[in-house]
Amino acid sequence: MGKQTNSCVSILSKEVQEALQAYIFAQKDTVYAYVHSFGCQLNVSDGERIRGILTAIGYTMTEDVAKADLVLLNTCAVRESAEDHVYGVLGNLKQYKQAHPERIFVLCGCMASEKHTPAYVRKHYPFVDILFGTAALSQFPRLLLEHFQGQKFGCDANEYDAMYEGIVPARAHPFKAAVPVMFGCNNFCTYCIVPYVRGRERSRKPERIIEEVEALVKAGYKEIMLLGQNVNSYGKDLEQPMTFAQLLRRIDAIEGDFVVRFLSSHPKDATPELLDVILSGKKIGHHLHLPVQSGSDSVLARMNRRYTVESYQKIVSYLRTRNPDFSLTTDIIVGFPNETESEFQGTLDLVQQVQYDNMYTFIYSKRRGTKAAEMEDHTTDAEKRQRMERLLTLQREIAARHNQRFVGRTLRVLFESESKRDGYLIGKDNAFIIVECQADPSLIGTFQNVRITKARNWAVEGELVKGE
Ligand code: SAH
Ligand code: SF4
Ligand code: F3S
Repeated sequence: MGKQTNSCVSILSKEVQEALQAYIFAQKDTVYAYVHSFGCQLNVSDGERIRGILTAIGYTMTEDVAKADLVLLNTCAVRESAEDHVYGVLGNLKQYKQAHPERIFVLCGCMASEKHTPAYVRKHYPFVDILFGTAALSQFPRLLLEHFQGQKFGCDANEYDAMYEGIVPARAHPFKAAVPVMFGCNNFCTYCIVPYVRGRERSRKPERIIEEVEALVKAGYKEIMLLGQNVNSYGKDLEQPMTFAQLLRRIDAIEGDFVVRFLSSHPKDATPELLDVILSGKKIGHHLHLPVQSGSDSVLARMNRRYTVESYQKIVSYLRTRNPDFSLTTDIIVGFPNETESEFQGTLDLVQQVQYDNMYTFIYSKRRGTKAAEMEDHTTDAEKRQRMERLLTLQREIAARHNQRFVGRTLRVLFESESKRDGYLIGKDNAFIIVECQADPSLIGTFQNVRITKARNWAVEGELVKGE
């Protein structure tokens, strides 16, 4: 089969669209699709594009799986618990297929891209009709058509040109938008499955990204989240190479009232050029998600992270000497194979030093096919769980103290949703600080000034400054 091109036409040609519609509207006037994405924001963003394809075909989206004619799970494989979760959900869905065998079940995303998955799914979940990998998203309409034409278990895990320009995503929010800037990862951290399931780094053309952001800002979007597994290597593979810092500068220059965020940055590629653009940008939040994974040089080497604790600390001090309030968040893995007590102590020391604003912590999970899966591991599960507890306790103490610095100050907050507390909204300030505040739901999707009155562990609380 030939390689697909980037245009929408090739992903969903008029012929394929009409052929599909002839099948799906043969019995009913309205057909429903249920799409659920697991995992990271990149996967959720893929899910928005999948919804875009289904909407273009003629499906109506539903959140009610019981009424769906097509059920699609867009999966994550990063940890065993993520996979177990998907298989659990899939097992529960079997009843819907039994009740209505004509319902179509689709499995895609990162799990579907693992080599062993097609055979496993076929054996244990034979009611799945279509399976395709992350790089074969453009093949979905074809696989769906083949299913209607009688193909049993349509499966495509090949690599295509997966930029899928031209698909209009069906976005989940009216005021914040995810914009992928690149796909894949070349880093091969020894614990990580992502390079195997997402393929090599491919950058979108800057013009396409700028066009998308400009259109979003024009349409009233207030938060633009640029996404990539390692945005700092953006542009290296382009015909005319450019840096992520250059791309950010161009996005920062777009007219309008909006905030730019981005995920994720690899410390080995966080150049002074990038840090300066963030610090001097008008719309770029003063926040960096900089996953450190471990505070021990020997563990970092075993992880193949290619930076040292010292070089990481240099980035932190570069930012914090220029803006003492610069917000930093991180990812940490506890219990990497054979992590010793003193190696773990290095992580505690670093966390104490950096004073993160937020932290995502994970107990190491063995991933089949990765280098770390072959490493000896004498650290017991009990030790790993106990270390996780110690890390979380430390971070709770730090966050509560660290957040005190905002009390009495006024932050500009983009309200995102209603809080669990009645009458309260949740939002984020420019530097990603989570703010809770009593306010009317009509303010969701707007920027408001909030005077901070109280610091909590993971958020701050405040009052609306009236008259804005
Ligand atoms: N590209 C991003 C990370 C994507 S995965 C980056 O490099 O920052 C998100 C996080 O999941 C990682 O930062 C890591 O902390 C965690 N993670 C990845 N593989 C893992 C594994 N096998 N076990 C536990 N945590 C893992
Ligand atoms: Fe995984 Fe490392 Fe790539 Fe992040 S940079 S996706 S942790 S291999
Ligand atoms: Fe999971 Fe794939 Fe993201 S493995 S974390 S959904 S890139």
